[in-house]
Amino acid sequence: MESFNFLLLSFSLFFLAAVSLLILRSSAAASRRKRHLPPGTFGLPFLGETLQLISAYKTGNPEPFVDDRVGKYGAVFTTHIFGEPTVFSADPELNRFVLQNEGRLFEASYPASIANLLGRYSLVLMSGTLHKRMHSLTMSFVNSSTMKDYLLLDIDRLVRLNMDSWTGRILLMEETKKITFQLMVKQLMSFDPCEWTENLMKEYMLVIDGFFTLPSPLLSATYRRAIQARGKVAEALNKVVTERRKEREFGAEKKNDMLEALLEGDGGATGGDGSGGGFSDEEIVDFILALLVAGYETTSTIMTLAVKFLTETPLALAQLKKEHDEIRLRKGEIRALEWDDYKSMPFTQCVINETLRVANIIGGVFRRATTDVNIKGYTIPKGFRIFASFRGVHLDQEHFTDARTFDPWRWQSNPGPTSSMTAYMPFGGGPRRCPGYELARVELSVFLHHLITRFSWAPAEEDKLVFFPTTRMIKRYPIIVQNRSISMNTE
Ligand SMILES: *[C@@H]1O[C@H](CO)[C@@H](O)[C@H](O)[C@H]1NC(C)=O
Ligand SMILES: *[C@@H]1O[C@H](CO)[C@@H](O)[C@H](O)[C@H]1NC(C)=O
Ligand SMILES: *[C@@H]1O[C@H](CO)[C@@H](O)[C@H](O)[C@H]1NC(C)=O
Repeated sequence: MESFNFLLLSFSLFFLAAVSLLILRSSAAASRRKRHLPPGTFGLPFLGETLQLISAYKTGNPEPFVDDRVGKYGAVFTTHIFGEPTVFSADPELNRFVLQNEGRLFEASYPASIANLLGRYSLVLMSGTLHKRMHSLTMSFVNSSTMKDYLLLDIDRLVRLNMDSWTGRILLMEETKKITFQLMVKQLMSFDPCEWTENLMKEYMLVIDGFFTLPSPLLSATYRRAIQARGKVAEALNKVVTERRKEREFGAEKKNDMLEALLEGDGGATGGDGSGGGFSDEEIVDFILALLVAGYETTSTIMTLAVKFLTETPLALAQLKKEHDEIRLRKGEIRALEWDDYKSMPFTQCVINETLRVANIIGGVFRRATTDVNIKGYTIPKGFRIFASFRGVHLDQEHFTDARTFDPWRWQSNPGPTSSMTAYMPFGGGPRRCPGYELARVELSVFLHHLITRFSWAPAEEDKLVFFPTTRMIKRYPIIVQNRSISMNTE
């Protein structure tokens, strides 16, 4: 009797669950119709289509995941990834709309692992007026006049310094990371490479490893290590901030770096009453910590991939060599690049644009609708996630002819690949557009100049490009470099 009752109970429970699942499903379908969500499928419960996405992006050719869905449903479709139903947009118009309505209709939304490790005062997580102040401060720190006046000098010096030790086989991704990390530390805090910066970099790598793991110290050792490393980095930065505050009190000479700008507040834009001026130590530390990540991982990957694409496109490499050899020969014994030199590299700029288009280091951004948004005949309901995919647009034949081919010459056609200029958003857009877009360009140009004029190289072994959890070369792109002398190589 007891056991029969139990059986009945469990049966009815099972039945209840099954029925409610059915009801839920059909009501979800009904509400989707009512709200006119973009078409698409949610895949498995909970997991959704996350596994399909990840397995596609772990290969050298992730495009079919988006291609299939765009083919079936159009450039805007609904899917279920990373734990939530998500509107996926490979539509440049919608992407622009989303980015430009930041703060009004949409807000930034990041996975918990990234949010916890970056800290709440990082540029990507801040919002409202604080974000506005920090963003414009960053922009004015890396605008063209500051780069021309002093950033370029350090970039050039540190790139050459690093290359001085290159010989034989090197892991290009490691070398470029070293370069960009040193550059960021210099630009942010005026430290030249030393033991302190090297240790800081080691901790940093641990923090970054934690970005794409389960945000649970219990379940993931990587995440646990990342949280610890973040603590150490924050402590080290805290010391730097404290010391700098002291130096300023004692009237030491002002340094031209980001930290100084942060300690000054936003340069009097809010008037002399002190309101708005001056950031707290916690704000400054979070902010610098996140900028270091932003400027180092992405730029070093672009440097590496530019070299990879050039290596695989000998005609482009030859043309680039000509451009840089001419600059080199013109300058004679003067080794440091100057602003005018940077400004006379038109083909380099094409190579950079094309590398950014094809590589898509930041494949897109997550946003969350803060209200019901009606656009293109659909409704994106309040609280819904949307992924604005830059990659989906950049690799779409509709916006770029031969979109999947590395073709720097496409940027030469006058007036440029017209319709695609509005589709091209390697640095995002709107109020959250990456403030370092010009800095990244300068760093990449200087890097290519010295690499090309000093070395010839060949891949040391087969390597593979993958896109998850980050865009990177599996073996960190090993190459063999050889000294090259220009006067010998030019006719
Ligand atoms: C760049 O920013 C500095 C402040 O850091 C400002 O004085 C200068 O006018 C700005 N230049 C341009 C070209 O925006
Ligand atoms: C590269 O792209 C930028 C937009 O990010 C554009 O302003 C610039 O004109 C492009 N450069 C070339 C050489 O087409
Ligand atoms: C390349 O040249 C540098 C000096 O410019 C020298 O120190 C280095 O040993 C050379 N490397 C090779 C492999 O010849």
